[in-house]
Amino acid sequence: MPRPPATFATARLVGRVPREADAPAVFAAYASDPEVTRYLSWPPYERVEPLAVFLRECAANWENDSGHFVWLLCLKGTETPIGCIGLKLEGGGKAMFGYLLAKKFWRHGLAAEALTHLVDWALAQPGIFRAYAFCDTENPSSARVMEKAGLTREGILRRWHIAPTLGPEPRDCIVCAKVR
Ligand SMILES: CC(C)(COP(=O)(O)OP(=O)(O)OC[C@H]1O[C@@H](n2cnc3c(N)ncnc32)[C@H](O)[C@@H]1OP(=O)(O)O)[C@@H](O)C(=O)NCCC(=O)NCCS
Repeated sequence: MPRPPATFATARLVGRVPREADAPAVFAAYASDPEVTRYLSWPPYERVEPLAVFLRECAANWENDSGHFVWLLCLKGTETPIGCIGLKLEGGGKAMFGYLLAKKFWRHGLAAEALTHLVDWALAQPGIFRAYAFCDTENPSSARVMEKAGLTREGILRRWHIAPTLGPEPRDCIVCAKVR
């Protein structure tokens, strides 16, 4: 399985491996915000401690064979996380992405910048042929991020994903991919 770079840089962003000590900053920036988690697979964090556990697991995943990699995103020249992007390397040459930003950094093209960089990395690996992501059908900004990163809309995955902030039932999602 290819191993992604532990850090990467784009024009405006740096991606790096999370640390447990990032928990208070991540909590304040986005993880406790129900507007951010609205379409995500986890509800907003109410306390810092479970988030610290999650970030420790994210860091540990870089050291084992989980195939699951999360980077915190910081604006270049700063250390404060403003979002994150995740990559799951699946069997059969597939790379799945997910991403989020703190609300005050929305609408500046930053998510598309990070996703574009990592999709390019993924499809440059000999064993990866498909880079893809999905988003809620009611999350048009995320659909636009995928499109700006060069992913092509493939269809609707019906009843695909549970977003606990919105309720217990699985929701329809748009799936987009770039292949080579
Ligand atoms: C989805 C998210 C990452 C987008 O990040 P972002 O950096 O603001 O995205 P970008 O600025 O790169 O692009 C957003 C695009 O959506 C468009 N957009 C925003 N709101 C929109 C809306 N309601 N309807 C249609 N388009 C919309 C913007 O105009 C922009 O397109 P443009 O560059 O062509 O103008 C951010 O909104 C977020 O973190 N949301 C919460 C977490 C989330 O839902 N993550 C995705 C899970 S699949």
